[in-house]
Amino acid sequence: MLAVKLAANFWYDYRRFAKASFLIGKRNRENQRALIHILFHSIEHGLSLSNPRPGFGKDKVTSLLRKINDYIVDYGPDSSTASAMRVLDAWVAFNRSVVVDVSDVAGELDRFDATNGFRATEVAGGTEEVRAADLRRASTGDFVAFMQARHSVRQFSDQPVMRSEIEAATKAAQQAPSVCNRQTCKVYAFTGAEDKARVLSYQSGNRGFGSEVGAVLIVTSNMEHLNLIGERYQHWIDGGLFAMTLALAFHAAGLGACMLNWSVTKDIDKAMRACVGIPDNEAVITMIGVGHLKEIFRVPLSQRKPQDLVLSLNPRLNLAAPTVTL
Ligand SMILES: Cc1cc2nc3c(=O)[nH]c(=O)nc-3n(C[C@H](O)[C@H](O)[C@H](O)COP(=O)(O)O)c2cc1C
Repeated sequence: MLAVKLAANFWYDYRRFAKASFLIGKRNRENQRALIHILFHSIEHGLSLSNPRPGFGKDKVTSLLRKINDYIVDYGPDSSTASAMRVLDAWVAFNRSVVVDVSDVAGELDRFDATNGFRATEVAGGTEEVRAADLRRASTGDFVAFMQARHSVRQFSDQPVMRSEIEAATKAAQQAPSVCNRQTCKVYAFTGAEDKARVLSYQSGNRGFGSEVGAVLIVTSNMEHLNLIGERYQHWIDGGLFAMTLALAFHAAGLGACMLNWSVTKDIDKAMRACVGIPDNEAVITMIGVGHLKEIFRVPLSQRKPQDLVLSLNPRLNLAAPTVTL
């Protein structure tokens, strides 16, 4: 019986992944946007390597231009097409610097700019030079101490969580890495007493402290950006990284946060989505309870395991294992 229930829940995940991702079937706007991101990311990525090959990625550039044109016919220009064009501008500049003739692409970009004006937007694309000294200066805090001071907080003051605090933390979380910079995540945030209580009513892990939470956030990841069988769990990874960064951003701002698991069966998932209006193509990663700190409060010690149970340094490889061609 349990096995049947488990299979039904896997089927629920499978069906939604198969429908939202664009492995199979028709491509909607988000699917097409994702393809544009995948392609321009790979060009930007190439430009950031130590020795980009002159003329690299020409096939991808051609394919990207075609996809941008198709997208614009259906939906018009937007931040994704502008980012992509900026990257292509950078690709042209690189190739000119190494004396590769890419005048065909350059001409297309100029024509595109004349019609859609992407160069006048603030959208960025390409690469930037980073100085290690600047990077070190910007990351001077004691990260271990920062992490050791982070706790899952389950007691909060009455001070409301402001919209600006949620926006600032979300902005920081948007800096989390994501597969091919596809940025699949979204945050649904609630600060009103009735809404918070209703949303938390779908989650059992907030018992005893849910009423103290100043804001309830729901982190989701859009599976419409995924297109490989190997990416069938990617939304959980990207979503987890985003959620963690979001929680750390609140910690950095002096607020407390507690992840609130979305370890639910399909019926509860469906009910909560219906209430909040979360579409089927978004996987719910976790809820997060956030609030301002009391001056003094308790947290569990949450002892960590010994490191030898966690870190396996240079384990011996089985060289007889099959090799693969990628
Ligand atoms: C994905 C996830 C879901 C969690 N769900 C809950 C929850 O529903 N309720 C809760 O009180 N804590 C929840 N936690 C917090 C964990 O209990 C906590 O991270 C763990 O005990 C370690 O404690 P610390 O975060 O204070 O270091 C969750 C943590 C994670 C990562």
